[in-house]
Amino acid sequence: MATTETIAQKLLQVLGNTYVLYGKTHSYHWNVTGARFHALHNLFEEHYRAMWESLDDIAERIRTLGVTAPLSTREMAEASSIKENDNAVPSADTMLQNLVSDHTTWLEDAEGALDEASDVGDTGTEDLLSTLIAAHEKMRWMLKSSIDD
Ligand SMILES: [Fe+2]
Repeated sequence: MATTETIAQKLLQVLGNTYVLYGKTHSYHWNVTGARFHALHNLFEEHYRAMWESLDDIAERIRTLGVTAPLSTREMAEASSIKENDNAVPSADTMLQNLVSDHTTWLEDAEGALDEASDVGDTGTEDLLSTLIAAHEKMRWMLKSSIDD
């Protein structure tokens, strides 16, 4: 049976995932090149801004559950199951594919956290995660629809 502590740990992973995916999306906003530069530069900006906003909501939910929020970016990255960038700049399509895959990982972890919150009747966490899941599904759809095939 999940407890408040395990829900907070699940939220910490969702926070770490959001942090790493925020950073990757922002770096793609800077480094994307090619004929679709303007469209992708703007799409990535829209997404990194949304994720930046959600970091605050997730961390404050962790605090609401009485658990300490991360004190360092290292702690955030360690809690993440999404990998950070390596040093090579990917092509525009590889950026899109990487982000689609990372949003899928984000969604799997968030859905696991939502199930556990539901088991213990933590409606506040369920509500937050449901809203964020819909937002990440929409971002994933936009990214997938931008891949050239
Ligand atoms: Fe910018």
